[in-house]
Amino acid sequence: MTKADEILKEIEELAKTEFLPIVGLRKGKILAEAVKKINPKKILEVGTLIGYSAIVIGKELGADAEITTIEMHAKEAELAEENILRAEIPSKVRVIVGNALAVIPTLNDCFDAVFIDAEKTEYFEYLKLMEDKLHKGTVVVADNAGIFADRMRDYLEYVRNSGKFISTFFQVGNDGVEVSIKQ
Ligand SMILES: C[S@@+](CC[C@H](N)C(=O)[O-])C[C@H]1O[C@@H](n2cnc3c(N)ncnc32)[C@H](O)[C@@H]1O
Repeated sequence: MTKADEILKEIEELAKTEFLPIVGLRKGKILAEAVKKINPKKILEVGTLIGYSAIVIGKELGADAEITTIEMHAKEAELAEENILRAEIPSKVRVIVGNALAVIPTLNDCFDAVFIDAEKTEYFEYLKLMEDKLHKGTVVVADNAGIFADRMRDYLEYVRNSGKFISTFFQVGNDGVEVSIKQ
């Protein structure tokens, strides 16, 4: 078992006793597959919590990959930094503390992969704010597109019907992730 697998297991165990809305094992697999497939160098994550999904993504990538992850709560961001450090993943991770709605417009990178997992009613706003930082082929994965589909109706409508993405819903239990490829 790698260090990253150990830390992921530790967080999964913690999530059984404490309220910890991590992406989890099954949806995490879909996320890891979707990202790994395109071998991204610049990755953006919205909603770090304590670093579980950043480790899920980062453990699949090389030292030339950089994950920028945004978390509005300082305490969670600090724990995330600790967990990510302990996980010893090859890729670099930059945790930014702040509201994604304010942070995204300040980012200068162009992203190859994105994971959206913060406030469900804000998914569409995050996407609109980052749209000029995506390119043809960028993969955007959105968590909770099953259980909270009603809260992100505008987002799902856009990725599925605007013609700007090819989008697929992957059901996992009563939830799922939406994987959208920028056209
Ligand atoms: C569902 S959790 C993220 C789980 C994490 N992606 C994982 O799978 O391990 C959502 C996180 O997004 C953060 N969040 C919510 N709205 C945000 C915003 N507007 N900007 C930055 N972070 C936000 C919350 O504080 C919370 O830690």
